Amino acid sequence: MIDRSEIQSLVLRPSAAARMHIDFYRFGERGGLEYFLRRARSLVTYSDAPTSGASVINLGLTAEGIRLLGAGERSQAALPPAFMGGMRSAAERLGDRGASAPSTWEPPFQTGGPAVHAVVITLLPEPTTTPSPQQAVFEEAFTEQRVGQWTGESRGGLEPFGFRDNITDPVIEGSGRSVTPGNGVWDEDAHRWRAVRAGEAVLGRVDESGGIAGHPDAAQIERDGSYLVIRKLAQDKQAFDDACADIAAQSARNVPGRPPVAKLSAEDVAAQLVGRHRDGRALGQPVGEEPRNGFRYRDGGKTGKATPLSSHIRRSNPRDDIESAKKMMPRHLIFRRGMPYGRPEGDEGLLFLAVCSSISRQFEFVQGQWLQDGNRFGLGQEPDGLTGLRYPSTAGHPTDAVSVARADGSRLNCRPISTFVTTKGGEYVLLPSRSALELMAPGDVEPDGEAVGQTNGGAYA
Ligand code: HEM
Repeated sequence: MIDRSEIQSLVLRPSAAARMHIDFYRFGERGGLEYFLRRARSLVTYSDAPTSGASVINLGLTAEGIRLLGAGERSQAALPPAFMGGMRSAAERLGDRGASAPSTWEPPFQTGGPAVHAVVITLLPEPTTTPSPQQAVFEEAFTEQRVGQWTGESRGGLEPFGFRDNITDPVIEGSGRSVTPGNGVWDEDAHRWRAVRAGEAVLGRVDESGGIAGHPDAAQIERDGSYLVIRKLAQDKQAFDDACADIAAQSARNVPGRPPVAKLSAEDVAAQLVGRHRDGRALGQPVGEEPRNGFRYRDGGKTGKATPLSSHIRRSNPRDDIESAKKMMPRHLIFRRGMPYGRPEGDEGLLFLAVCSSISRQFEFVQGQWLQDGNRFGLGQEPDGLTGLRYPSTAGHPTDAVSVARADGSRLNCRPISTFVTTKGGEYVLLPSRSALELMAPGDVEPDGEAVGQTNGGAYA
């Protein structure tokens, strides 16, 4: 059983917040970061706290932060290379090239920018700009160390292209939430959906392989913690709408001697690129119904037939449509916790957050192998229809094409379309457990903010 009082609140459930701030901090020396952790520690919200109506704080450390704290060599060596390397150095694996390349990233992740050590995520129940009492502590004491802030705002469950988001949200065992169809792991024998083993999200717990997530040598740092992927993804709505209209215009077929095929609407194309209608209905589902989610793709049902292989939802969660799905699929789930940023008609997009226990097996695999590369789906280099980075091919392959189904079901290979989603920066952080945070920065803080404690002095190996 997991201990909810140890696990930060974003790990086990998404928040219903109206507003989100992600604040990035950098410290000149180890004592500064330790003092920050001492003050921040008591403000963090853990999963045993009632969250409805309250503001929530979660706290993450980057690899640079862990290094600054001086964790022992053995622990550092046991932490995963993807985390220790940071998101910048994963650009090639993630498809962050061209307009998404790290050289184009925004502050605080611009080239030559400050190394970020800690990240505070605040979720507010109201769309207010007044800081919560917890935020006020950071504003007062650490403004100088803050090197960046991203702000997200809920749009009533819609993402900036106008689609209902976060329909799939796999339930983690021990989280206290009930499993609904599609939100967990399909148990073929029992013929039902069940919760995902906690170790897929919480380190030091049993995962879907039956093993313990994380590395035993890093247990002091990792146990009951989770990795969080933070990415700012800009969305070009005009480019998305134009591409849908353009593909729709190519979709009619009037070839002499063959039955004519009617033109698709731009809305049909948009739904095929995402794999759902804007209101969240699965493809093939009648208007007016609540979005269905218990489907799989190979079971011969309507949704499997209607959802193109290149659509975003099929690429990001192929369900039963991969080899050895029963073993493989539960190992590649991610737990999305993000929110839109910006304003319609302006700079807008998604502050993408994903919880996982293995950055490489979960987030990087989904992003690099499923979303950016079509090979595993027999689509060559065709990327995901929605988030795919399309760039001129160097090897003569049409990497910028996209395929959708015509009205008669035949496949239409469309003219190249542009990229709708570009990466503007991001990082991997560890959300440590309550105990790990105490170990990293022992001691207390007097009410006046004076530290009464020592440096951890190598308290964790
Ligand atoms: C700006 C970028 C993105 C947009 C606009 C977007 C939008 C959407 C929408 C509208 C859905 C359908 C709602 C749902 O099933 O919950 C969805 C599902 C999903 N997305 Fe994204 N997404 C984006 C980026 C990503 C990235 C980068 C990943 C992973 C690396 C990802 C992973 C998923 C997953 C796993 C699902 C659930 C699919 C299912 O279970 O059927 N998304 N996304």
